[in-house]
Amino acid sequence: MVNIYTKEEVSKINLSGKILAKTLRLLKNEAKEGVSLKALDKIAHDFIKDSGAEPAFLNYQPEGANHPYPASICASINDVVVHGTPTDYKLHSGDILKIDAGVKLNGFYSDAAFTVLIGEGTKDAKNLIKATYTALEEVIRHVKPGNRIGDLGWAIAKTADRFGVNVIVGLTGHGVGYDLHEDPVIYNFGDKGHGMELKPGMVLAIEPMFSAGTSQVMQLKDESWATKDGSLSAHFEHTIAVTEKGPIVLTS
Ligand code: MF3
Ligand code: CO
Repeated sequence: MVNIYTKEEVSKINLSGKILAKTLRLLKNEAKEGVSLKALDKIAHDFIKDSGAEPAFLNYQPEGANHPYPASICASINDVVVHGTPTDYKLHSGDILKIDAGVKLNGFYSDAAFTVLIGEGTKDAKNLIKATYTALEEVIRHVKPGNRIGDLGWAIAKTADRFGVNVIVGLTGHGVGYDLHEDPVIYNFGDKGHGMELKPGMVLAIEPMFSAGTSQVMQLKDESWATKDGSLSAHFEHTIAVTEKGPIVLTS
């Protein structure tokens, strides 16, 4: 079932999303060579708590996972696409770091992610990150009543094509609000004009995930997902409300 949120509820998700946006901005500034993933996790945890909110990922058990998640952020490096658990690993120049986080405030969840290149990187790495960022920018323009879920996937996949990178298959976006993961499932590819119609009051976590190589992922021991061929990956995500006036990005 897809939840429809009132304007007041959307405002509450937005309050949650604003704390999340500030958290991610802080992490982007702190993510430098030599900094450990656990240090970034602590910064996020403390900032979210100090803001009077809860880190939504901490102790959350994603579908198919065997354990509650032990951290406040996911920190995924290079071939790891999502759900990387923060370790003592210290960032190196050339790493593609993906940080994903969620905030719960007054019962409302928000979810967002970004990718950043640490130090110097290759042309291919920069192109991949730009492609994924552009796909999120592009798809947001399609978030409006009357459009369909397939239009969103179509816009994302078209951007991947344009940059010569590949959509990762098997990982998706989702509804968000009362829960971190709700219906509908939002594929990062799709057919224009197909799928469920978007209605005012829907709140969607849209998250393009691209690879410089294969579209296929495999699950690692820590339950993170990595590209099967070890190629680089990137991920951006926003929580977005569908309204009569068009999209409202709730995590910026
Ligand atoms: N943002 C992630 C997603 O949408 C959720 C991570 S849940 C965690 O898939 F428990 F793994 F952190
Ligand atoms: Co998400």
